[in-house]
Amino acid sequence: MQIHVYQTPELAAEAAATLIASEILAKPNAVIGLPTGSSPVETYRRLARMNRDGVVDFSKVTTFNLDEYVGLKGDHPQSYRRFMNENLFDHVNIDKENTHVPCGIGDVEANAVAYEEAIAAAGGIDLQFMGIGRNGHIGFNEPADAYTDVTGIIELTPSTIDANKRFFDSADDVPRKAISMGVGTIMRARKTLLIATGSDKAEAIRTLVKGPVSPKLPASALRMHANAVIILDAAAASLLD
Ligand code: F6R
Repeated sequence: MQIHVYQTPELAAEAAATLIASEILAKPNAVIGLPTGSSPVETYRRLARMNRDGVVDFSKVTTFNLDEYVGLKGDHPQSYRRFMNENLFDHVNIDKENTHVPCGIGDVEANAVAYEEAIAAAGGIDLQFMGIGRNGHIGFNEPADAYTDVTGIIELTPSTIDANKRFFDSADDVPRKAISMGVGTIMRARKTLLIATGSDKAEAIRTLVKGPVSPKLPASALRMHANAVIILDAAAASLLD
């Protein structure tokens, strides 16, 4: 696991965008896994700028998002499909047909099976970009007694509902379930890139780097990945010494 620490969240985002752009430069038809949330927003802004400036071309890129709330249609203001359109896809020359976000409506179990099949049909994920929850979750894979494997339905924990209520009118409006890639799906990506900024992630990062590899902190699985990069700002890295 390579860990890079930057003084500011902006520099961390610059590093993450550089790494993703390098992947696409090396393989123009790369398959990239993507997160939503606050963590990737600055990185997406920089990727959009690089695309506008002609540095990186998204026309042959395929993407798979980590997760989506169960019960929210793609046009719901808090749906992750809408987030991705607004924060990245509408600002780069990607073919929207090649962007995949798990579907949280209809037969969600069947959607989960189809999502894994679509990832396999695309040749697997070259680079999986992600954030980390305060409780160490990746995707919506919450602390548990065992790691999840493939894409499936997850019950959100009170910690995650509390962290995400800022995007909704109240905690009661936060969906209780999500459809998420499993930890196994994430681990099968050929490379992984986790970004964490801010002091509220410092404890999760300390446990990820120094604690046991355990499904109690799902992100700790990345310690077993052959090609994992962690990008931090100084605040998120503050408990590592
Ligand atoms: C979102 C996702 C989540 C977030 C995590 C951190 O697609 O997969 O695991 O990365 O909850 O969220 P932020 O970045 O908002 O702190």
